[in-house]
Amino acid sequence: MKQVTASAPGKIILFGEHFVVKGTRSIASAISRRVYVSITETDSRYIRIISPEAGLDSVIDPETLKPGDPMLAPLASMLEYIRDTLGYRIIPVTIRVKSELPIGAGLGSSAAFSAAFARAFLAFIGEEDSLELVRKISIVGETRAHGKPSGIDTAMAIEGGTIIYKRGENPLKISLSLPEGYSLIVANTGVERSTREVVEFVLGRADKMVKVSSLLYEAADRLIDLALRAFKSGDMELLGELMDVNQGLLYSMGASSGVIERLLWAARKNGALGAKLTGAGWGGSIIVLVEETLSSVIKNVLVDEGALDVFEVSLGEPGVRVEE
Ligand code: MEV
Repeated sequence: MKQVTASAPGKIILFGEHFVVKGTRSIASAISRRVYVSITETDSRYIRIISPEAGLDSVIDPETLKPGDPMLAPLASMLEYIRDTLGYRIIPVTIRVKSELPIGAGLGSSAAFSAAFARAFLAFIGEEDSLELVRKISIVGETRAHGKPSGIDTAMAIEGGTIIYKRGENPLKISLSLPEGYSLIVANTGVERSTREVVEFVLGRADKMVKVSSLLYEAADRLIDLALRAFKSGDMELLGELMDVNQGLLYSMGASSGVIERLLWAARKNGALGAKLTGAGWGGSIIVLVEETLSSVIKNVLVDEGALDVFEVSLGEPGVRVEE
């Protein structure tokens, strides 16, 4: 039976989430946890979607494209775009999703799903070398999921690596790595939230106090230069401080929460060099920069404080790809 599997990576935003929505620069990197999407031929007349991690087993009628579950709205929008704008015929298939990323945790699971689905679907119908189409389809899914996405999650899922991202510009690929002896820890607060709601709240606050918020947005953009310099010179103490400053700006814009602050402070109190939320906030995930010798201690502290999925990440993993 014909089957194609594609995968795309999750991401962390090192600097500049939220601010990037209004056009400042941001630094993001693809991580080694991925979302896999397999598309298989079926005898059924329905498109069936099975995602154990999301607790989902539902169908979409290929004629009406009406989603059988609200969680499928981004997929239904992508199928509609593929049919109505790109002009491909939608046939019944079975779509299996396997996510190594926690869902709704700020690690780009929805963009990784959209990119992996688009890549798998195009490969399934025999369209190869179609990254531009993958991008177009993924943006439709991500816009349905998140309302006003900057595009950074989609760019990351497709390009992989590490990028400087500015809305409306091609992502600039850069090479960043932590010097020997340092680690970056991701911890999921376990609090799921909607990126769309947090983004709208932050944009609302920015509009309410333009004279102040424009200074914060400018500060977020300038932090990028300092962060790149800190990476280049291997000054991890400075990098940690810059993460703390970025967190302060995100706090000011209303993206933080009690649980995030509690975890960040537990990490800092135990010797972390710096820590911030990553992604949208109000829950989701945090990232913590540590000396490697303290890594186990700080991971245990975060688990004791109630964090889920506490793991170290490497930066710059590959983007969307068809799996053999
Ligand atoms: C979400 O991963 C990042 C945000 O900046 C939203 C966006 O850029 O679309 C919060």
